[in-house]
Amino acid sequence: MHPRQGGHQILERGLIPVLRICGLAKHYPGAAPLFGNIDLQLQPGAKAALIGPSGCGKSTLLHLIAGLDEASHGSIEVCGHRMDSRAEAERARLRARHIGFVFQAFHLLPHLTAVQNAALPPLLLGSSEALALEEASAVIAELGLTSREHALPSELSGGEQQRVAIARALVHRPDLILADEPTGNLDPDSADQVMHLFNEALRRRPCALLLVTHDRDRIRGMDLCWKLQHGRLVSLAP
Ligand SMILES: Nc1ncnc2c1ncn2[C@@H]1O[C@H](COP(=O)(O)OP(=O)(O)O)[C@@H](O)[C@H]1O
Ligand SMILES: [Mg+2]
Repeated sequence: MHPRQGGHQILERGLIPVLRICGLAKHYPGAAPLFGNIDLQLQPGAKAALIGPSGCGKSTLLHLIAGLDEASHGSIEVCGHRMDSRAEAERARLRARHIGFVFQAFHLLPHLTAVQNAALPPLLLGSSEALALEEASAVIAELGLTSREHALPSELSGGEQQRVAIARALVHRPDLILADEPTGNLDPDSADQVMHLFNEALRRRPCALLLVTHDRDRIRGMDLCWKLQHGRLVSLAP
C-alpha cells in the first residue's frame, strides 16, 4: 500500500478533520492584536471561503495554518498533526506532505522555469526528477500553459505566474488547499478554469479547500463562508 493511502482512508471516514483550529490568536509585536479566539474546522471534501476587508489578517491566518508564521495563542491541527508548537523543519515536512498553498504574491523561484517550479512539491516528497516534471507538466497542461512551461517567471504575465503557482499547489494532491485570492489576476475564463481544477481536486479525493476571495460568484460556489473582521471570525451563509 502506498504510505499516503492509509491516512486518506481515515480522512475519508471523517474521523480526522483536515483542519482544526482552536482558540487561535495573533498579534505582531508593537501592533494591536490582529485576531483572537478563532475556532474553525474543515472536514474532508469541504469548500470554504474566507472573506474580510483588506488588512484584517486573512493572509496571516493562512500562513499560520501552513506553519509559515507563529501563533500567539491557540492550536492548529492539519490532518490530526499539530502544526503549531513544532520545529521549523517538522512544519516544513508537514506542509510539504499535506498542504498546497497558492500565495497571494505567487512566490515562484525566479531561476526555475514554470514546470520546474511546479515540480518542487513532488521533488520535496522524494519523487524522481523525471516523475516530478511529468506530473508538473500534466497539471500545467490542465491549466492551459503548456506552451509556456519552459519560460522563467520573469517571462510570464501575472496571470500566467498565478497559474504556475496554482499548478505547484495542486501537483502533489494535497489534503488541504490554501488559496490566497488565487483568481485575483485572472480573466474570467482562466478564473473559471482554476475553480474547475480545485473542484476536480476535491472530486478526486477527500481534500479540503480554504479560499480567500472577494468575488461573490466564487463565494456562492462554496459550502462554507467565514468573514474575518474586527479580530473575530464569523460564519456566514455562502
Ligand atoms: N510579518 C509581519 N509583521 C508585522 N505586521 C504584519 C506582518 N504581516 C502582516 N502584518 C500586518 O498584519 C495585518 C494583516 O495583514 P494580512 O494578513 O496581509 O491581511 P489581509 O490578507 O487580510 O489583507 C496588516 O496590518 C499587516 O500590515
Ligand atoms: Mg492578503
